Amino acid sequence: MNKTITPDTGNLPKHIAIIMDGNGRWAKQKGMLRAFGHENGVKSVRETVEACAKLNIAYLTLYAFSTENWNRPKLEVDALMSILMNSLKKELPTMQKNNIRLNTIGNAHMLPEKARRQLFEVIEATKENTGMTLTLALSYGSREELVSAIKEICNEVQTNKIDIATINEATVQKHLYTHNIPDADLVIRTSGEQRISNFLLWQAAYAELYFTDVLWPDFREEDLHKAIFSYQKRERRFGKTSEQLK
Ligand code: IPE
Ligand code: IPE
Ligand code: MG
Repeated sequence: MNKTITPDTGNLPKHIAIIMDGNGRWAKQKGMLRAFGHENGVKSVRETVEACAKLNIAYLTLYAFSTENWNRPKLEVDALMSILMNSLKKELPTMQKNNIRLNTIGNAHMLPEKARRQLFEVIEATKENTGMTLTLALSYGSREELVSAIKEICNEVQTNKIDIATINEATVQKHLYTHNIPDADLVIRTSGEQRISNFLLWQAAYAELYFTDVLWPDFREEDLHKAIFSYQKRERRFGKTSEQLK
């Protein structure tokens, strides 16, 4: 059964970043608790990760938990942390099979000890893999990331490691959590919300944005393909004129 036509491999985004939204509403529609939505979002994660690996996407970044999400009810935060821990353990064989290297961005110190340990175990176990880099944004906030970069740069100035005059965009990039990841080419957000919610503010400066009404637990390979088709139809001008690109 051929569900969708596979996107043309000539013009694929190198880095896809996804704001996985709508788990709570999905559960509510079914008369269930929000955690049920989060549990069902795991299947979408697995399918998306495998679909991206199959297409040879080099970088996939998933926004799983924001700095602001710590303000949710404790019951929901606990449920999310335990889903995270269980899935990390369960998905390790899939990551190995697909040659995926796990990475994380965010303030890992905020995570419960057990979840953090599990996360770094999988990062360690997959560090030699040479395929797609899968980055989980966990306890991630772009503003916090920028504040942390600014502090590090100030420290280098104060200790005479660098001169203020030499600070440029590359300096900032070097101090972001994403220092080893290129800018996002395509940012997808599910659930119909059209906002960035403190995600990759610097790194998405020139990303193509794609919004879909599909709720995250319903997001499937064909939805990913639709986003990529849309991306492939766009002209990325980076400030130039269309004629200059010809
Ligand atoms: C996204 O789904 C998952 C996280 C933010 C952790 P939500 O939980 O935000 O679902 P909605 O937006 O309330 O439907
Ligand atoms: C953004 O979703 C964070 C993640 C998907 C992890 P939220 O549902 O938390 O965003 P807001 O609060 O609606 O902007
Ligand atoms: Mg939401």
